Amino acid sequence: MDFKGMKRRDFLKNMGVAGLTAFVASSPWVSAFSESARTQKEKIRLGIIGPGSRGRHLMHFLCKNPKVEVAALCDIYRPSIDAALRLAPGAKVYADYRQLLDDRSVDGVFVATPLNAHYPIVMDAFDAGKHVFCEKSIGYTIEECFRMYNKHLETGLIFFTGQQRLFDPRYLKAMEMVHAGIFGEVNAIRTFWNRNDDWRRQVPSPELERLINWRLYRESSKGLMTELACHQLQIGSWALQKIPETVMGHGAITYWKDGREVYDNISCIYTFDDGKIMTFDSVISNKFYGLEEQIMGHLGTVEPEKGRYFFEDVAPAPGFLQMLNDVERKLFDALPFAGTSWAPETANENRGEFILGERPKGDGTDLLVNAFVEAAITRRQPERIAEEGYYASALCLLGDQALQEKRALTFPDEFKIGYLNHQRTK
Ligand SMILES: NC(=O)c1ccc[n+]([C@@H]2O[C@H](COP(=O)([O-])OP(=O)(O)OC[C@H]3O[C@@H](n4cnc5c(N)ncnc54)[C@H](O)[C@@H]3O)[C@@H](O)[C@H]2O)c1
Repeated sequence: MDFKGMKRRDFLKNMGVAGLTAFVASSPWVSAFSESARTQKEKIRLGIIGPGSRGRHLMHFLCKNPKVEVAALCDIYRPSIDAALRLAPGAKVYADYRQLLDDRSVDGVFVATPLNAHYPIVMDAFDAGKHVFCEKSIGYTIEECFRMYNKHLETGLIFFTGQQRLFDPRYLKAMEMVHAGIFGEVNAIRTFWNRNDDWRRQVPSPELERLINWRLYRESSKGLMTELACHQLQIGSWALQKIPETVMGHGAITYWKDGREVYDNISCIYTFDDGKIMTFDSVISNKFYGLEEQIMGHLGTVEPEKGRYFFEDVAPAPGFLQMLNDVERKLFDALPFAGTSWAPETANENRGEFILGERPKGDGTDLLVNAFVEAAITRRQPERIAEEGYYASALCLLGDQALQEKRALTFPDEFKIGYLNHQRTK
């Protein structure tokens, strides 16, 4: 497909479920919707375990889906239950997740507890015969992630993870372009996520500190790696269709010295077997550069988060205009004399092109959640979706380990799974 010659109006303007089917080759999991017309009259009953901030965000979409009944809720913190009941007033409430799992009328569960609670809940949920949607990062260690993934294979139950970029229209389109070679050979992927806040939540009473601010403590979180890097590292394996071999980096608490145990300043370098590089940087005391994944090919760059792409060979500005711009910016001490055909070496400002005609309304979470519903109804696990989620978690955990141990680490062979592994060992 010649994207370069394509007019912007030819791009998909709105990404409905029907529009998604265009992306099956590059992103096979979107096939989850292939039978959505047939499943119109079907309904599943779901339980939400940990309906805190994210869990309730997911519930917003579930409660709008006519194929879903949010039938059960479980949380150890009463205010979370009360807020969730406002979204699903008819749901049964359980204080212990095991009781919810014993409810035979529940077909599947969403697990949105803090990271350290995911593993036992997900393993027990599979044992209880439930389909599972687990928020990212899925496990606290790579081994936990590996066991969860294998449990999904053994039981044949549906397993999705909270990697919504997999259904974000900007990312789907960007990846289709990357895989079609529009940006040439991709040799580097630069990812970063910067904020300027302490990441703390207000705590109503001191004994709740570790429950409410679980992100800041090592026993329940691996900080920026498991909370943010997880999303961005997944972009690298999606783009390059393989996983990096090694990782090294540095992490420290340099600004928010407030008793937290997780780093507020991180830089990691992941390298692929052919020497290609993916970096992840995160600092939460400066938000100027925000967040982005920059996929850099020898012909161009795509920035899916901004929804833009940039070709390398941008046409230079007319010489005279460029000269005026440069003078205005005080780049030159003196005015160089030349005719209007004079063109400086600096290229014209490259404002790029938009990936989609207009900014999509969602970030893919609605589609991800509804794809899980379709998969659970049809009992068909979409190709590669669990693997993408597994590697996203495994890679951020390996990065965290490298930061903790202050050394370069190699992705362990025993934890390689699925299509990426098969591709690599062919
Ligand atoms: N995909 C995304 O973009 C995204 C965004 C935000 C959060 N998340 C993930 O969602 C998860 C939750 O994050 P959050 O911000 O909603 O946290 P949160 O603290 O707001 O909510 C967690 C809820 O789980 C409850 N809980 C804790 N232990 C429990 C247990 N054993 N049984 C039942 N309930 C328990 C807490 O009381 C709380 O209500 C994390 O894994 C996080 O990484 C994903």
